[in-house]
Amino acid sequence: MTNIHLPDVGVTMALVASLQASLPDFGRILDRFGHPAPALRKLGLVHWENGRFDTAARTFEAALSLAPEDSDLWRDLASVYSASDRDEQALTAIRTALELNPHSAPSWQALASIADRLDDAETAEDAYRRTIALDPNAPAAHLGLGLLLFRKKHYQEALAAVRTSVALDPVNGLAHCALGHLCFIACDFAACARAFDEAARLTLELDAPTRQKRARALTFQAMIEGSIREALHDYGAIAGEDREDLDIIARDAFSVLSAAGHLEAAAEIGRMRLSEKPDDPVRRYLLDAVLGRSMDAAPTEYIETYFDLFAPQFDSKLTETLQYNAPRQMVQLVAGHRIGFTHMLDLGCGTGLAAAELQPLGKDLTGLDLSSGMLAQAQKRGSYTELVKAEAGAYLEATQNRFDLIFAADSLIYFGDLKPLMRAAAGALVPGGLFALSIEHNDGSGFTLQPSGRFAHSLGHLKAAATDFVILEIQESTIRLEAGRPVPGLYVVMQRR
Ligand SMILES: C[S@@+](CC[C@H](N)C(=O)[O-])C[C@H]1O[C@@H](n2cnc3c(N)ncnc32)[C@H](O)[C@@H]1O
Repeated sequence: MTNIHLPDVGVTMALVASLQASLPDFGRILDRFGHPAPALRKLGLVHWENGRFDTAARTFEAALSLAPEDSDLWRDLASVYSASDRDEQALTAIRTALELNPHSAPSWQALASIADRLDDAETAEDAYRRTIALDPNAPAAHLGLGLLLFRKKHYQEALAAVRTSVALDPVNGLAHCALGHLCFIACDFAACARAFDEAARLTLELDAPTRQKRARALTFQAMIEGSIREALHDYGAIAGEDREDLDIIARDAFSVLSAAGHLEAAAEIGRMRLSEKPDDPVRRYLLDAVLGRSMDAAPTEYIETYFDLFAPQFDSKLTETLQYNAPRQMVQLVAGHRIGFTHMLDLGCGTGLAAAELQPLGKDLTGLDLSSGMLAQAQKRGSYTELVKAEAGAYLEATQNRFDLIFAADSLIYFGDLKPLMRAAAGALVPGGLFALSIEHNDGSGFTLQPSGRFAHSLGHLKAAATDFVILEIQESTIRLEAGRPVPGLYVVMQRR
């Protein structure tokens, strides 16, 4: 132990004598415990409670010089070090406590809190879990774990942990507030509003974004249960000064309710929004999707309009909010089969999230997309040899180029029937060339247009469409989050015959 200095026993005994002489209460405590170490601990706790962290630390250090095997004392010392930002010493102290007694739930809880404060999520998560294993009824550990998983965007597990914490300690306003946010992500709007109200009642004055979320939750719930127009009409009164633009509320209600499977309500909002702008290809297509009308591919006007608008926020929304990581994972999969390509095509390249990953795998990299807004973002990366604005199927059929890798991350989801595209891709590949792609996976047969406007494909359909290819590898994956839940998908590498 290098960074904690305990006083000599002689120095501590001199301190005890002077405390006894100057503080009658200390003398009484000493008489009660019959030993100076617990009396010093008691005094240290009083200093701690009153915010005198340095004095508390010195008192615990003195107690430890007399009882260095007392793991609870080491934990107290760790906590006051932590409270006064002496992080390294806090870690040393709490690890000493745990070496002396690895079966103490409070000590694991203290390690978790210290590590969490230091942003060491791995240590903190492990320590919260050990706390819970030793004491399943520790509300603070469930809450700490829940908040940590919330930050990691593991929403379902976070929700379960925070729920447990609230059940064990129903008067913690912070826990109710976290529960409200997690219920909103899980689209449990009634529970969300209840949790925020409870948080406000108990302790917290809700901040403006939380109050806005509560107003949205109440409005979305009213939409599910009754009339859309009435819910929108009542929104202003619910939100008061926090109200947002009604058009944004209706737009977000449409996407949230369709993602959560409340298709009737979503369809009613979709119809209302389309009647306001009958020529809008995004409103039209997404209403079709919610109504379950099938088609062979998303219309090109939809793709262009939607992605042109989305382009500036695409990267942060996909990689942070939705936890999208397909480009990196797919490139790793491809590299396991081959590298050293001559001419690679990033089909539906979007903003070029895959560019930096693909570049080391070969020489030339062409990016293709239908949306000029997305291509403008891709251009900024400067990683493509060439960027082409074209419809994917039409380009593959017409091009004289021959590629040895076609890479399609999250772009075949805009095609229903994959047969024509696969055929065209085979034509644009050299024999033996690779085609790497991702799909959202459904268990049925064929393909389905989902309420999100993206298609899901069965493995059967993919295989039937890939007759020009030998499938080399299929990896199950989570493509993104939707309404806080993982969207199952497949990464596939195939080789042209
Ligand atoms: C979800 S983004 C994925 C972008 C990129 N591959 C990535 O992984 O970040 C889908 C992209 O496919 C493009 N796209 C969809 N259908 C297309 C089509 N028929 N032809 C060309 N591009 C298309 C869209 O414009 C959009 O940029």
